[in-house]
This record gives sequence, structure tokens and C-alpha cells, in this order.
Amino acid sequence: MRAAAVFPDRKSLEVIDDFPEPRIGSPTEVKLRVLNVGVCGTDREIASFQYGFPPPAGSDFLVLGHECLGEIVEIGPEVTDLRLGDLVIPMVRRPCEHPECVACRAGRQDFCYTGDYRERGIKQMHGFLTEMIVDDARYMNPVPRAIRDVAVLVEPLTIAEKGLIQTLEIQARLPWGGVHNAIVLGAGPVGLLGAMALRRAGFAVTVYSRNREPNPSADIVKAIGAKYTSSQDRSIEQMAAETGNIDVVYEATGVSQFAFDVLAVLGTNGMFILTGVPGQHGPVGVDTDRIMRDLVLKNQCVLGTVNAGKDAFQKAVGDLAAFDSAWPEAVRSLITGRFPLERFAEPIRTQTGIKNIIEISR
Ligand code: BGC
Ligand code: ZN
Repeated sequence: MRAAAVFPDRKSLEVIDDFPEPRIGSPTEVKLRVLNVGVCGTDREIASFQYGFPPPAGSDFLVLGHECLGEIVEIGPEVTDLRLGDLVIPMVRRPCEHPECVACRAGRQDFCYTGDYRERGIKQMHGFLTEMIVDDARYMNPVPRAIRDVAVLVEPLTIAEKGLIQTLEIQARLPWGGVHNAIVLGAGPVGLLGAMALRRAGFAVTVYSRNREPNPSADIVKAIGAKYTSSQDRSIEQMAAETGNIDVVYEATGVSQFAFDVLAVLGTNGMFILTGVPGQHGPVGVDTDRIMRDLVLKNQCVLGTVNAGKDAFQKAVGDLAAFDSAWPEAVRSLITGRFPLERFAEPIRTQTGIKNIIEISR
């Protein structure tokens, strides 16, 4: 079977031709034919070999791929809720083994305390950039056939969904009615999917990003009824003045200085959601007095969020179907490049367009 992998020792990206086909080994497992796999910044970071993402024990390579759409081709005897031919999105993270990790023991490995969780295609487990995979049925999230063409966007959408689920829970601390203003930082796939989720949740949304108009991301932003503002045309203060009270910021750039500069204009009772993972570029100046005064005097909250639980996956499936009915062209234009497995390294090495996907099977 073919698989696309990174080899940390020789710092290379290679297609392997003889990767062993997995077999169902426990009665609760399912086997999937992989259809599509999305490429994202995490893959790019792994393939830059700067931070050392460990391959599985005993392997000198890591099969990449964590944003996957697959079709069920075999079912273990104890699986009752999935059928042959179902389309599913597998979750990424697997629990740590420490008995004291209450998060992993509760099936919430996205909140793992120990850090010994594993992630398919990222940390110590082979990913989905291959022809067939086997995994436990509990990690599978069914998606309707109607959204098959865009279903590979479910996993990156779960980042926003987890952030939004937590935001609504945290904001239940205060009277929270009417229309709220949300700023999305960044107009890549995570930002645009976040903007869609926020629009659907009823927010007035501004996407604040570097590129000037016209550009394809700005077109998508406008198609979903949100506003696009380029940081080259409007300073952070101008953008804030045009917005009114900034109730939510959804950060999707991974640029820490920019995020903390925008934190300074977060509104009263505001919520700042950080999702980017910056490289380590060393300290920069931040007005900590202003930030701390505002956090206290304006009841603000800063939330970091990673990975996602079953609730966010289910919400993402429902929301993606709703986005696809409301804004079919905008959703479809998020996917800007389709590559065969043999060419998987191209979209990883060079970021072009919005979301690139690898088509493994039709
Ligand atoms: C994935 C998450 C993962 C994170 C950190 C992201 O690209 O979407 O599932 O937890 O990378 O490894
Ligand atoms: Zn990703």
C-alpha cells in the first residue's frame, strides 16, 4: 500500500510503496478507505523538521495526514452504529495511558493533563495519508453524503467549534443577549471556517487579515455576510473603532505579537480565543499594564484551545452541512488545490491558495 511520510533522520518527504495494509485487530475497530486528506500548517511545521515530532516507536518515519475523510469498508463484529459505505471523519488525538489523567479517562483527550497523548499523523502515530486505515469505531464521526466534496474540512472546522462551545459556556457567566461583534484574525482555512461558524452562531463578523482586497479569501468573507478589513489599510485602533465593542476575537494566525496587539482592543466582557501555534522567535515588547488593567476592569477572558472532542466534531458536521446549503460557492472555494498522493509534498513545501487536499481515492 502507498503512504506519504516524513523521515526526520534524513529530513525528507517520501512516498512509501510497501507500507503494510492494516487489518482489523479488535472487535470494535473499523477499516476505512481513505478518500481525501487536507494539508495544513501543522504538516508544514512537521515537514520543516525544526521541532522534532516523534515517529511511532520503532519506526524511522511518520506517515502524515490528520484531516481525513474516509469510507468504511470493513466493520469489527462489535461495532453497531456504523455501516459499510458510511463516510466518516476520524478524530486525531488518542488518550494517554495514565490512570490519573481524568481528561483522557473521560474520553476528553483534547484536554489531556499529562501531555502523553498521541496524535495520528502528528505525534507518535502514523496518520491518514495512505490508502487504508484501521481505527476504533469510537473515533469515527459520520458525515452525510451530501457534503462529501467538502467533508475533509470538518477537522479544521472543529478548532472553531471547540472554541465556540467553550466561549458560549464561559459567557454564560454574564447577561449575554443580542448581536455580538467578533473579529477573526487571519483569512486562511482556520480563520475562514471560524468566520463561517461565528456567522452561523449569529455574530457580526469582521475578518482582519494582512492581504489587501481583492483576494479570494475576502470574496469568501463577503459571500458569508461578513466584513473584510486589511491590516495594511486599517490600523488595529481604526479597525476597533469601526467595530464597536469587540465581544469575541478568534485568532487564527499564529503570530503572537499581532495577537497581543489586538488583545489591547478587546471589548468589555470580551473573550479572546487563541488557536495559532507560533514558532519560538524570542521575546517582544507588550504593554502588560494596559492588558492586565483591561483584563481586570473589563472582565475579559483569554482562552487557548487545541484539538477537539466528540461534541465539536458533531457540531462541525452539522455546521458544515448548513454552510454548504447557505453558501455553497464560498464553502467550495475554500478548497483551492487537489493533488494525487504522489505529489503530496508540493502543497506541504509551498503554501498556495487556501486549502489544499490530497485525493487518495474517489
Ligand atoms: C490539529 C489538531 C492538533 C494540533 C496540534 C492541529 O493542526 O488540527 O487536531 O491537536 O494540530 O498537534
Ligand atoms: Zn490540521
